[in-house]
Amino acid sequence: MSFYQRLLVVLAVVVLLLGVLMIFTYDVIKINWISFMEIQPSFKPMEHPLPVAARSIPIEGAAYLPGQGAPINPVTSDEVSIERGRLLYSVTCIQCHGRIGEGDGTVSGGLVFPPANLTTDVVQNKPDGALFLTISNGIPGTNGQIHMPALNENLTVRDRWDVVNYLRTLKAAAAPKP
Ligand code: HEC
Repeated sequence: MSFYQRLLVVLAVVVLLLGVLMIFTYDVIKINWISFMEIQPSFKPMEHPLPVAARSIPIEGAAYLPGQGAPINPVTSDEVSIERGRLLYSVTCIQCHGRIGEGDGTVSGGLVFPPANLTTDVVQNKPDGALFLTISNGIPGTNGQIHMPALNENLTVRDRWDVVNYLRTLKAAAAPKP
């Protein structure tokens, strides 16, 4: 064999080995290697979360426990809370519900369902806990659509109560209709 022929054989072997490695790297052939992290009760991303275990306590404080009804607002509606709520509203809600809560935010026209006017009696007459639950869990629509997204991952429990306290000022802020 000439030098070049030998070089060719060596290259062929290297390429072949790399090819075999790629088969496993890109899961063309999938081997379930034992992973000890997986051998425990857990759920994967996008799987339904496990139900809250009995006697567990929400670490963020005054959240609600499933099945126990609407919670009571533990955050006093003072200047600090309302100001926090105003800032959070302007980040998380304003695009749908609009600057003063009338449901006319910039993206409101493109939604499957128009955002609620938060200044109306329909909304303002609801107890704080009901508004808290709406913000936490969102509003599901029919046939799998979502009218309002759940915002419990965007806002902490305290944040949500601050937003509720701010929502109360929207009624007063709304200009009287001529
Ligand atoms: C993606 C758009 C969107 C965002 C963001 C959004 N909402 Fe909504 N919201 C809606 C829509 C749409 C409805 C009406 C849904 C329905 O009535 O089926 C609604 C309804 C409501 C209601 C009415 C509930 C009732 O019982 O009448 C409240 C209160 C509310 N939203 C508060 C908020 C607050 C507070 C935020 C921010 C923390 C927020 N929303 C963020 C779209 C949104």
